[in-house]
Amino acid sequence: MSDARTPVIEYISKLFAAEDHLLQNVLHQQKEGGGPMMNIGPDQGKFLYLLTQIHRPKSILEVGSYFGYSSIWIARALEKLGQGLLTCAEISEKQCEIIKNNLIKANLNNFAEVKQGSGIDLMQKFIDESKTFDMIFIDADKNNYPNYFKLSSKLLNSGALLLIDNCLWDGKVVDQNFSDLQTENIRTLNQLVSESEDFESTLVTIQDGLIMAIKK
Ligand SMILES: C[S@@+](CC[C@H](N)C(=O)[O-])C[C@H]1O[C@@H](n2cnc3c(N)ncnc32)[C@H](O)[C@@H]1O
Repeated sequence: MSDARTPVIEYISKLFAAEDHLLQNVLHQQKEGGGPMMNIGPDQGKFLYLLTQIHRPKSILEVGSYFGYSSIWIARALEKLGQGLLTCAEISEKQCEIIKNNLIKANLNNFAEVKQGSGIDLMQKFIDESKTFDMIFIDADKNNYPNYFKLSSKLLNSGALLLIDNCLWDGKVVDQNFSDLQTENIRTLNQLVSESEDFESTLVTIQDGLIMAIKK
């Protein structure tokens, strides 16, 4: 879960990352759907929006888009830049339709596309097609995090930005009482990224922890 709304986060979000009607509507859809609120928080959305504008990527891959909340923040940065394409890789057919509709409602369909499939299969397909990305944001099934990192490594251009969400996993990564598969896979990922000779990286303590890495 990434959308923590502590008083401090509410304060930051109100001042710096106010959600417009469209983003509020995406959250409303999620609540109505009855599923978990798995979107990133507004403070993190604004952070991704600013990072995208600083980095000026022409091609972005997001793995795990849910209702498109994070996709809208990122694609809005591309709209502001007037260039670039976000590819949303999402396994759920139903979510893909919702994301597409939300991107159309946000007038972002020129800056974002939606691909249905498993993140692993789609990333492997992009590798086979010699496609590369200037930025990748991973926010999907945690057990594949080490695999997503290995595939991202092949897909990212030199100087590209890799972002991976939920890397603190509600603090479980530092609590030895937790040894479930998801926690272990996130620990493995954190180890892999921090020790990689191909990336310069850190883990930013925003929301549930965001790995930020630059491909050498
Ligand atoms: C945490 S939510 C993404 C939230 C979104 N990034 C946001 O902030 O609005 C995780 C999403 O990953 C998708 N997902 C789960 N397993 C996947 C897989 N193997 N490949 C691609 N997407 C997957 C789920 O269907 C869900 O929509």
